[in-house]
Amino acid sequence: MCGIVGYIGHREAYPIILKGLKRLEYRGYDSAGIALYDGNEIKLSKTKGKVADLEQRLEKEIPTTGKLGIGHTRWATHGVPNDVNSHPHYSNSGNLVIIHNGIIENYESLKKELINRGYTFKSDTDTEVLVNLIEDVMTNQNLKLGKAVQIALNQVVGAYAIVVFDKNKPNELVVAKLGSPLAIGIGEDEFFVASDASPFIEFTKNAIYLEDEEMAIIRLNKEIKIRKIKDDSLVNPYIQELQINLEQIEKGGYDHFMLKEIYEQPSAIKDTYRGRMLVDEAIIKMAGVEDNMKKFLNANRIIIVACGTSWHAGLVAEYIFEDLARIPVEVEYASEFRYRNPVITEKDVVIAISQSGETADTLAAIKLAKSKGAFVFGVCNVVGSSIARETNAGAYTHAGPEIGVASTKAFTTQITLLTLIALRLARANGTISSSDFRHHLIELEMIPEKVKKTLESEAHIKMIADIYKDVHHFLYLGRGYNFPVALEGALKLKEISYIHAEGYPAAEMKHGPIALIDENMPIVVIATKRGHYEKVVSNIQEIKSRKGKIIGIVTEGDVEVKALADHVIEVPETLESLSPLLTTIPLQLLSYHIAVMLNRNVDQPRNLAKSVTVE
Ligand code: F6R
Repeated sequence: MCGIVGYIGHREAYPIILKGLKRLEYRGYDSAGIALYDGNEIKLSKTKGKVADLEQRLEKEIPTTGKLGIGHTRWATHGVPNDVNSHPHYSNSGNLVIIHNGIIENYESLKKELINRGYTFKSDTDTEVLVNLIEDVMTNQNLKLGKAVQIALNQVVGAYAIVVFDKNKPNELVVAKLGSPLAIGIGEDEFFVASDASPFIEFTKNAIYLEDEEMAIIRLNKEIKIRKIKDDSLVNPYIQELQINLEQIEKGGYDHFMLKEIYEQPSAIKDTYRGRMLVDEAIIKMAGVEDNMKKFLNANRIIIVACGTSWHAGLVAEYIFEDLARIPVEVEYASEFRYRNPVITEKDVVIAISQSGETADTLAAIKLAKSKGAFVFGVCNVVGSSIARETNAGAYTHAGPEIGVASTKAFTTQITLLTLIALRLARANGTISSSDFRHHLIELEMIPEKVKKTLESEAHIKMIADIYKDVHHFLYLGRGYNFPVALEGALKLKEISYIHAEGYPAAEMKHGPIALIDENMPIVVIATKRGHYEKVVSNIQEIKSRKGKIIGIVTEGDVEVKALADHVIEVPETLESLSPLLTTIPLQLLSYHIAVMLNRNVDQPRNLAKSVTVE
């Protein structure tokens, strides 16, 4: 996820682009850059850091004149955040300049071909590959920019929203979209392009939202031409009048970032496995794992260190790794691990999980493990973060920025990534058959659609939230793979609603928490069909006979729990190992709606910070 903005018209582009980038910063904030063109010379400035850092640097570095401009605020995917990897990127001739939001999956093979043809690269980005591919098509086939973009994009696998211009065409911007958003604002003798309408909302309310696989050639004093990238057919531009305000736009029309991020999970999960899981070929490939395969396979055990929600993802991973790859796993709170003189040897592999990549306790645990000779693998969301740099190797979740303090899409993408690692190791270990392996890939590929289906229960969940919003305590129960989901559900509720909640393995209830149960106690029980179903049904009966209120998370079509529970929320059927990716969703929505009804500050709950850089 990145923010892109462009302008062409009669005004100075710089202030428009700069303000636009500030508004798009929620989409990514590890580096930023702007290119301006006054018809003679392209001026470009970019830097690691925030848009404010860019502003300081740019105004000293280049003249800010030009009526064509493009700008980018980055959320790194390929290549760490630094000045060189920041956008915009030039092509080799210096004639083309591009900004890009998305991931080009086949960039390595395209890059190899371009290097063979004499191209050189300054950055590690997939974007610089794309701009040179466009240039290559343009020069080899003597084509105009628009046509070359179209041909190049037909060779690309992945997701993109791009804006590109040619030094020889000072009146033209070419834009294209697949999988990443792109809006075109239409003013009087001026055009705006951006990831959402926030950069141009005060200039025009008329906008075109490009559909996937569409591109547009935007020329001053001409009508916009929109074409299908695949078959070149012309598309009638649909210009809509925007009715929303700035804040609504930044949150994608949602009331809170948390809700937006809950709804982003289908695409975030896809972005996590994109390019790594090839279902047709039945392959999983992740450079960080492949390069260190021996270390994983020879490990005596895997120790997972993390905090909070990431620790819960680690607990789910414990089940997956042991179940599929048959490697012993221990999961530790980073804060405990770092201070308890743990026994670690060179034969241990430590996996550190962190959304922010900055959590102080996790970082300290990594340093300790490394000092004892263990190999440390990082699972982070933020590219180039301290944990990503400190670990020996790793893989990114590619969830995009998570702004809401309560972690949602970070959790499900961490589980997705850890599942890929476990499956890859299981294959290498020979602990999974090829048909089982393929079956897992097919099921994982279906998860984003099933998450979407689960999200359709929101209205029903809101109704349940309304019934229980005034209680003071909640209990969450689950077994096996869904025990950590119960913990995560309870954490979500307490952190944003301030209602006391506890998660327990369902069978542990009788060793204590059962004393709490009476007619005032709501108990969320995860009781999906696969995995200890009959046992969980018995636990539900025990609750029922003590008059507890039961909210069951069940598999579609369930009958038994439905007959016992006060409410049920259905999720589609999937493999037991993948079920946390679905059962988590209703729990996120339940917490969210209770917190909203209680008027809590959902995105910034009291006393909490998004990134805990102190111990
Ligand atoms: C809960 C939450 C926290 C974080 C924890 C670790 O919703 O967000 O519990 O999970 O502070 O943070 P990271 O993953 O950034 O290391």
